[in-house]
Order: sequence, then C-alpha cells, then structure tokens
Amino acid sequence: MMFKQIWFFLPTAVFAHSWVERAYVFKDGSITGDPGYPRGNVLRTPTFLDQDMTYRLPPTGRTPNKILPEDHICMSSQRSHNYTEDSPVLSARAGDDILLMYQENGHVTRIDQDAGHNRTSGTIMVVGTPNESLANSFQSVMSPMNNYTETLKVGSFDDGLCYQANETPKSRYRQSLPQRAHLDSEGINLWCGISVHLPPLLEPGDTYTLYWVWFFNGTGFEEVYTTCLDVKIIM
Ligand SMILES: *[C@@H]1O[C@H](CO)[C@@H](O)[C@H](O)[C@H]1NC(C)=O
Ligand SMILES: *[C@@H]1O[C@H](CO)[C@@H](O)[C@H](O)[C@H]1NC(C)=O
Ligand SMILES: *[C@@H]1O[C@H](CO)[C@@H](O)[C@H](O)[C@H]1NC(C)=O
Ligand SMILES: *[C@@H]1O[C@H](CO)[C@@H](O)[C@H](O)[C@H]1NC(C)=O
Ligand SMILES: *[C@@H]1O[C@H](CO)[C@@H](O)[C@H](O)[C@H]1NC(C)=O
Repeated sequence: MMFKQIWFFLPTAVFAHSWVERAYVFKDGSITGDPGYPRGNVLRTPTFLDQDMTYRLPPTGRTPNKILPEDHICMSSQRSHNYTEDSPVLSARAGDDILLMYQENGHVTRIDQDAGHNRTSGTIMVVGTPNESLANSFQSVMSPMNNYTETLKVGSFDDGLCYQANETPKSRYRQSLPQRAHLDSEGINLWCGISVHLPPLLEPGDTYTLYWVWFFNGTGFEEVYTTCLDVKIIM
C-alpha cells in the first residue's frame, strides 16, 4: 500500500487527472458484489503512470479546445475489449444501477485554492450503448443524432462527499462527516462516484458499453477526459 502515500506529497499545483478506477452494482445506495474495471486497466502499482489511464482531448500539443472528427472516444488501450489480468469486466443485470468510481485527485479538495481561476471540478456525462462500434469517434458518440447511444447521466464531477484525505478545509470537513464504509482500495480516501441506470430491456449475454466523459475547464482552455468500459449482462 506504500504507493498510495505518494499522493499526499505531491505539490498542490500538480493535479493528477482522473479516470474510472472501479465500477460496482449499486443497490439501495450500497456498493455490492465484485468490482468491474475499465478496458485496458492498469492498477495503481508502484510502476503505474498517470498516462496509463488518462486520455485527454484534445491531446497535448494540439490546438486547444478543438476536438477533431477523427478523435476516438477511447484511449488506444481501450479501443477493444481489452480486459487485463485482475481487472475483469463488470457483470450486472438489465435495469441495475451502476456506480462508476474515480478519485478526485485534488480537483475537489484543492480546486478552491487554485487562486483566482474560478475553476470548478467540472461535469461528467455518461453515455451508453448496447451497440458499440469499436471505431466510435468522440463526436459520433456524443452526437444527439446518434441513434445507438443514449445519455444516461449528466452530473457534477464533485459528488458532494468525496475527498482525498489531505489538510485542506474541504477535505477535513468531509472527513469529519458520517460516511459509507471505505473500500479497501480507497484506504483513507473516499472516492467520488456517479451512478447510472442500465436500460431494462438488455438480454443476458449482451454487452453494454459505457463512456465516462469528464469535461474539465482549465484557465482559458477546455479539456475532456474519457474512460471506456463495458458491462456484461447476466441473468
Ligand atoms: C491492453 O491494455 C494494456 C494496459 O493498458 C496495454 O498495455 C495494451 O497495449 C492493451 N492492448 C491492446 C490490444 O490495446
Ligand atoms: C472570478 O470570479 C470573480 C467573481 O465572479 C470575478 O470577479 C473574477 O474576475 C473572476 N476571475 C477570473 C480569472 O475569471
Ligand atoms: C467549459 O467552458 C465552455 C466555454 O466557455 C463552456 O461552454 C462549458 O460549459 C464549460 N464546461 C464546464 C464543465 O465548466
Ligand atoms: C446495431 O446497429 C445495427 C446497424 O449498425 C442495427 O442493424 C442493429 O439493429 C443494432 N442493434 C441494436 C441492439 O441496437
Ligand atoms: C436516427 O433515427 C431517425 C428517426 O428514425 C432517422 O431519421 C435518422 O436518419 C437516424 N440517424 C442516423 C444517423 O441514422
């Protein structure tokens, strides 16, 4: 667990970015069952690099704020059903609620301190499809004209509860509140979550794809981060 500690000593101006780290079936407000993971998942082992799991659009070095028609919705390791060792796909039933969990990495607890920038931690949109084309571009998935994708949720990145355990007033306050039991993977932090409701008419054996899309505006630029994952529909 030593690698977890690294986060507390990062300079405050450097924010690691965020991605979906776990997905769970969420019943009556509780996390249940075994977790599922994103495609191409790399766990936070000591050799883990942020770039293993972060996919930013537009990428560094490109014209800011401009997503191109050919930009893929998923990072390259997530463009196939590439489930890595110890990071299997989530199994769930049609109509289940699914909780997608991610760490705030300072985008909630330290954002107020990012002096004068008026930043917020941004917005998350979760789009789903029972009918994925692996060639999906960002623009086609997000298009309201796409008859095969549906927007399942639009919500704030900050779920109102989550925190990295640090010394900021917001984190200290949230640490002091009554809260759900932490998962082992969370340690002393409380991860953020956004829940979505799976369509009721899926059939056992179907694969339903979820795109987690985070809109995060910096100072004078707009960034989008995505995570791609699937749900295997069971009886
Ligand atoms: C699958 O994911 C792993 C970890 O992200 C990556 O190293 C590998 O290249 C991916 N494979 C494919 C075919 O995308
Ligand atoms: C931040 O918001 C305040 C209050 O609305 C405003 O006065 C200030 O100019 C804004 N700063 C930036 C950098 O946009
Ligand atoms: C980001 O900035 C754009 C342009 O100013 C704005 O339309 C959009 O709502 C902002 N998004 C978020 C999540 O703040
Ligand atoms: C998936 O898309 C194809 C067309 O690309 C369509 O024929 C098929 O009915 C769709 N399946 C579902 C489950 O929507
Ligand atoms: C989506 O469905 C509508 C209504 O059936 C149809 O008019 C439209 O052409 C479809 N869009 C695409 C991109 O296939």
